[in-house]
Amino acid sequence: MQGRYKMIVYGCQMNLADAERMEGQLQAAGYMRTEETADADIILINTCCVRETAEDKVYGKIGAIKKIKEKNPQLIFGITGCMAQKESVNLMRRAPHIDFVLGTGKVQELTRILAEIRAERSPVVDVTIPDHGIAENLPIARGSKFSAWVPVMYGCNNYCTYCIVPYVRGRERSRAPEEVVAEVRRAAAAGYREVTLLGQNVNSYGKDRRAADFADLLHMVDGVEGIRRVRFMTSHPKDISDKLIDTIRNGTHICEHIHLPVQYGSSRILKAMNRGYTVEKYRARALRVREALPHASLTTDLIVGFPGETEEDFAETLAFLREMRYDSAYTFLYSKRSGTPAAAMGNQVPDDVKHIRLNRLMEEQNAISRAINERLMGAALEVMVEGASKNDPQVWSGRTRTNKIVLFPHGAEREGDFVQVRITQPQTWVLKGEVVR
Ligand code: SAH
Ligand code: SF4
Ligand code: F3S
Repeated sequence: MQGRYKMIVYGCQMNLADAERMEGQLQAAGYMRTEETADADIILINTCCVRETAEDKVYGKIGAIKKIKEKNPQLIFGITGCMAQKESVNLMRRAPHIDFVLGTGKVQELTRILAEIRAERSPVVDVTIPDHGIAENLPIARGSKFSAWVPVMYGCNNYCTYCIVPYVRGRERSRAPEEVVAEVRRAAAAGYREVTLLGQNVNSYGKDRRAADFADLLHMVDGVEGIRRVRFMTSHPKDISDKLIDTIRNGTHICEHIHLPVQYGSSRILKAMNRGYTVEKYRARALRVREALPHASLTTDLIVGFPGETEEDFAETLAFLREMRYDSAYTFLYSKRSGTPAAAMGNQVPDDVKHIRLNRLMEEQNAISRAINERLMGAALEVMVEGASKNDPQVWSGRTRTNKIVLFPHGAEREGDFVQVRITQPQTWVLKGEVVR
C-alpha cells in the first residue's frame, strides 16, 4: 500500500478524462482514493484556465492546502492540467509548497514523477507538449460505472482570438480509430452503456491522420455491441459536414443532441473572434441539422463582452438567440487571457456593461429553454438513471437522449438502468416526472 491520494478537478470533460487516466495510474501503483484532504498523502489539482474565475478558484485551493502541508510536510502536492501548462514554474514561485507541476501532455508521466519526488524530494516541473504521438493503454479509473468519457483527439488548431486552449493543449492530435474503438469495447465489456467522445473540436478528428474522419469514427463506435448511447462534444460549426449530420441521422445509438457553440450572433464580432464562420453560415448549418434531425436538441455557448462589442452587436445576438431557439446555452462573460490576441485589443468592454448584457442574455435564454421544455409535458422519454439527485436522495437524476436532466422519485430501478419517464413538471433546467410502469 502506497498511501492515499485526493484528486481535485476543475474545467471541462477533457480534464475529467485526463484525471481518470491519472487516477488509473495512481491506483495501478497501489494508491487509494480519498475524499478527505487531511488524510491524503498526495493531493493533485487538475486545473483549468479558460477564464480568470477558473484560475482564481485554483489559487484559492492552492492557498488552503498550504496549511495542510505545514502540518504534514510529507504530503506531495502537485498541480496538473491547463493552468500548470500556462503558468509552469511561476506557480511554484508563487506557492513554494507545490512539489510538482505537470503539463497537459504529460498525464502518462504521473507515477514516474511521483517516484522521482519520493526519492529526491526536489521539485519537478515538466510541461512539454508532444507534437504528435499519444500515450495509449493507460489504466483508467472512471468516475461513473455506466457512462464513459473517451477522448478521441487532443489539442486545438483553431486559435479563436479570446481562447487560451490552443496554447495550453497544443496542436490537434487524433487517436487511431482502432484505439478509440478498442477503448469503447473495453468499456462496453465492463458494463458501460454510454460513451461520450471528446475533443475540443471533435469534427476535426482525423485531419492529422487521414485514416478516418469523425463521421467514420462515430459510425464505428455506434456499432460497438452493448453501447446504448453515443454522445460527442464539442462540434465546431465551421466543419459540421453533411456526412456527419447524415451519420447521426442514420445511427442507432447516436444521441440526438448537438452542442454547437455559436459564441456570438454578429458576423462582425465572429470575425474578430476568428471563428471561421459568419452568422449566415452558422444559420445554414444549424438549419441543416434541424431539417435532418427534427427531434434533436441544439445547445450552444455564448460569450458577452468581447472587445469592441456594441449595443447593436448585442441586439443582433439577442435576435439570433430568439431565432435559433436553443434548448440551452452556456453563457460566459468575456475574460481576458494574456497572450491571446483579444487581450491586446482596444475597446475592452467595462465590467458593469458586460454584467448587464449577460443578465439580459440569460433571461432571454431561460424563457426559451422553459418554453421548449414545457412542450414536453406529458411526453414519455427514455432516461438513463445516473444517480441520486443532489438535493434529494429520494429522487433519481438521469438524462434523456437529448441530454436533458430528468428528476423522478425512486422506484425499483437502479443506477445505469434505462427507464421511460412521463414528464409531469417541465422546468427551465430540469424535467420532473414519473416512471411509466
Ligand atoms: N472547444 C470548444 C470549447 C472550449 S472552451 C469550442 O470551441 O466550442 C469552452 C467555452 O468557454 C467556449 O465555448 C467559450 O464559450 C468559453 N470561453 C473560452 N475562452 C473564453 C474567454 N476568454 N472568456 C470567456 N469565455 C471563454
Ligand atoms: Fe478555444 Fe476556439 Fe479551440 Fe474552442 S475552437 S478550444 S474556443 S480556440
Ligand atoms: Fe479549461 Fe483546459 Fe478544459 S483550460 S476548459 S480544462 S481544455
